[in-house]
Amino acid sequence: MIDDVRDLSVIEKKKILARKRFFSCFGQCVAGIVVATFAIVLFGLFLTSDFLAAFKPAAALRTTGFFVASFAINLLLFSGVYRFAGKDGKPVRDYWLAIMVAVITYMLSIVSSCKLNVFAMPLTLATLVVIELTGRRSATLTTALVAVLVVLTYVFSGNNYDISLIVSAAICNALTALIVNFFVHKHFNRLKFLLMAIFSPLIVQPLVVAATLAIGDTSINLFWHFVWSYGSAVAAALIFMPLVAIFEGIFNIADDFRLSELCNLSNPLLKRLASEAPGTFNHSLVVGNLAEACASAIGENPNMARCAAYYHDIGKLKAPLYFSENQSSYNPHDELIPEVSVSMITSHTLFGEILAKQNRLPSEIVDICRQHHGTSPVGYFYRKALSLREDGELAVNKYTYAGPKPQTKIAAIIMVADTIEAAMRAYTPDTREDYVARINKLVDEKIELRQFDECPITMGDIAVIKRTIIEVLPSIHHRRVDYDKRKKD
Ligand SMILES: [Fe+2]
Ligand SMILES: [Fe+2]
Repeated sequence: MIDDVRDLSVIEKKKILARKRFFSCFGQCVAGIVVATFAIVLFGLFLTSDFLAAFKPAAALRTTGFFVASFAINLLLFSGVYRFAGKDGKPVRDYWLAIMVAVITYMLSIVSSCKLNVFAMPLTLATLVVIELTGRRSATLTTALVAVLVVLTYVFSGNNYDISLIVSAAICNALTALIVNFFVHKHFNRLKFLLMAIFSPLIVQPLVVAATLAIGDTSINLFWHFVWSYGSAVAAALIFMPLVAIFEGIFNIADDFRLSELCNLSNPLLKRLASEAPGTFNHSLVVGNLAEACASAIGENPNMARCAAYYHDIGKLKAPLYFSENQSSYNPHDELIPEVSVSMITSHTLFGEILAKQNRLPSEIVDICRQHHGTSPVGYFYRKALSLREDGELAVNKYTYAGPKPQTKIAAIIMVADTIEAAMRAYTPDTREDYVARINKLVDEKIELRQFDECPITMGDIAVIKRTIIEVLPSIHHRRVDYDKRKKD
């Protein structure tokens, strides 16, 4: 692709690449759009109208209109989710998740509004699942479009439904979902998430009563509309947990529930790291603390940062003794030439990627296993090899990690935290100035090696990360840095 557009300006290249990416994603999602359209129309017609009559010539226009409207809404959902996913997101995965949740919520809403009560539409379900697994904006869009689809189903059914009542019910339930969307935060733990999802819909319930009164209904329906509207929101909160667990598994998504499970130190992979590579395990825990603090400081997901740090060096499990933190007296590198040593060291990123995939870790963590050293050189063995050369010249590229460089801000955080933790573990500064200078030097080396060129991190972010590590590291290492300007004799 780059060759095709070699002569175009950078902006034009970006536009072409963006267009190509959009159509590539669309190609991977078009089956979902078509299948969802058929599922929605057929299911809707089956429950709300005379199904066979809907396909007779007399109803052809109406049924075609329903197909077209449903297709357009699914298309709108794809466009919205693609846009909300952003440049670094996963639009295809997010779309498939959103459309599956939308279809499930739509079906439940049609069944319950048709068979139980018109106000029994569990639209909150779409909000809860999508907000937890992707994001707030996609959740709002999915919920709104499901509400529109439910109304359209009754409009195109050809039966004499009370459309004003159905519109009122859809609006009230969509508002309930919006309120839940406002109060629920994806970083909540499961209990808080559940409690918020159960109690926040109460805010909208007076509107359900008002809508029923506005339609002129002052009968017992006032009570039942209230009960079913709130009951459907509570039911959505209850079935959301198993549904999230299922979608987490299907799409291998790293939501906060999954991340906290992965960060549990009794996880088999972490237990293996603790027993087979205890030095690496301790290093990973410290990097986890640093990375979490840094991610919070620059507005990234701290749980993802901690989890990625815990697993970033699992590739060392292949040969733990070749890494200094796991050695006591015996060093196998003493018996190896530097070329072999360096290949043993650098291969831990590739093996980590393989092991992470085998254990079905989220793709973000798999990528960080591979990217956390970027294309940095292994300085110690390069210098050792150089010292063995008589001519004093040696190309550095055979002594570097294979990359790729960090592609996300969290990958960059792990690189910085990893480098600093490893370098500062055995370093005792004399003064605070020495301590700060050493950290600055380590980060500046990575900048000079252009390791952050492929991720969206800014110099401002890097400055914040440095400041955070300077503050946090001494307390984690349990070593008091002498902040007085005390010089050794
Ligand atoms: Fe590493
Ligand atoms: Fe590391």
